Amino acid sequence: MTPVHVGTIDTVSAVPRRVCVVGAGYVGLTAAACLAHLGHRVRCVDSDPARLGQLLEGQIPIHEPGLEDLVAAGVDQGRLEFLADLEQALLDTEIALLCVGTPPQSSGEPDLSHLAAAARQLSAAATKDLILVVKSTVPPGTCEALELVCAEVVAPGVVVRVASSPEFLRESRAIEDFLAPDRVVVGTEYLDVAETVASLYPAGSTVVHCDRRGAELVKYAANTFLAIKISFANEVARLCEALGTDATTVLAGVGLDARIGTAFLRPGPGYGGSCLPKDVAGFRAVGQTLGTQTRLADATEQENLHARLFVVSKLALVLGSLAGKQVAVLGLAFKAGTDDTRDSPGVHIARQLIAAGADVRCFDPLASPAEAPGNWAHSAAAAVTGSDAVVVTTAAEEFKSLDPAVVAAAMRGTVLLDAAGVFDIAACSAVGLTVYGIGRGAPTDFHAIVWPPLRWAHPVATAAR
Ligand SMILES: NC(=O)c1ccc[n+]([C@@H]2O[C@H](COP(=O)([O-])OP(=O)(O)OC[C@H]3O[C@@H](n4cnc5c(N)ncnc54)[C@H](O)[C@@H]3O)[C@@H](O)[C@H]2O)c1
Repeated sequence: MTPVHVGTIDTVSAVPRRVCVVGAGYVGLTAAACLAHLGHRVRCVDSDPARLGQLLEGQIPIHEPGLEDLVAAGVDQGRLEFLADLEQALLDTEIALLCVGTPPQSSGEPDLSHLAAAARQLSAAATKDLILVVKSTVPPGTCEALELVCAEVVAPGVVVRVASSPEFLRESRAIEDFLAPDRVVVGTEYLDVAETVASLYPAGSTVVHCDRRGAELVKYAANTFLAIKISFANEVARLCEALGTDATTVLAGVGLDARIGTAFLRPGPGYGGSCLPKDVAGFRAVGQTLGTQTRLADATEQENLHARLFVVSKLALVLGSLAGKQVAVLGLAFKAGTDDTRDSPGVHIARQLIAAGADVRCFDPLASPAEAPGNWAHSAAAAVTGSDAVVVTTAAEEFKSLDPAVVAAAMRGTVLLDAAGVFDIAACSAVGLTVYGIGRGAPTDFHAIVWPPLRWAHPVATAAR
């Protein structure tokens, strides 16, 4: 195995390169714009004609703060161009980044067909030696297998080497994450390839250089760990509810230990998006393939499903029944600050509410109305008007700035199920709203504690665990 190296490999400013970026989604478009910003000359291709058409007209197909300006600057300065033709995109280029989707299949394994197709197309079009860098999230062993696929179609005398450099950006903070990464991971057995790949990134970045399988696993393991942290917070939150104490404070007390950290330690409606659910499933699938147990990841996946259902069952408990109730769902994107609704708790919860007979009206400040499982309201205020209950699934700024008095006056009922923890409970109570949360708010699951020999009794409410 190649020895692992952790350190810095310099520098981008000394080596501006010609780079081809394949896939203009959250990862590819961000990478293309940021690489151009760093001084590289970037050609970005996408196989979706509609998406490419938008980009050629100067429109950005996704919501990502700052991306529009960065793309425009790259195009204006002549360092960023969009095109459909791979051969043209590869001209004078020794390096191509693969940023295509790897969506989950029903087995939990990712669908690598887009990646294989793109690698095959690039290799067939290559007229000189090429480094393919896989930025998509893939199971360990993928880069090695891709290299064999490339070798089948490449022209005689041309060598294609495949490296791994997984992407760690967060949607809604993609640009800052790309330009100031916590670390850059480069997986390749060749030192010259490692230096070339590392030289694309911002100068001074901390680079972890390892073999390809190791680099691929870093991404799966990192996302699985984040998912475990979120699920653990939800488990603690349910204990807090049963104990009648506040999870926000308890988890702050836990997370402020520097060994633990407060990030991703907030209770909520579970994790979602295009990455965490898929990568936990992928991590588990790797274990199954290798015959290695992944008990923590298995339990996390179950816990996350439960976290979403918990919101629905809690509302059913509070309202008595969901049938015929008018419920506003605020938040359809998987988190605040993005329009991405892939595997989103908000969408899942809205669907469950509808299945239970509720009349659901949804609003999200960024997501498309087409993603709404129920009716779409044109504003948060319109969504809550006349509702029996309001469910909040993300900490969008628009929701944080809602005036509880205005919400209370507009609603028919008084139940505010704030799964995202954005509302001030005292301010809501003052205007007659009853706030239920995840590990905070009004109790629905408060238990007598019976630790002999010390015991004391509290009124016991019906369990929703
Ligand atoms: N979205 C994130 O926050 C994030 C973060 C880190 C890693 N990732 C990983 O990065 C990869 C890409 O994710 P994304 O969210 O950017 O996906 P996306 O679906 O937003 O974008 C993928 C793009 O690739 C294009 N494409 C597919 N096949 C192609 C081909 N053969 N040639 C050219 N273009 C092609 C699609 O048209 C699409 O525009 C995934 O593996 C994902 O798991 C995503």
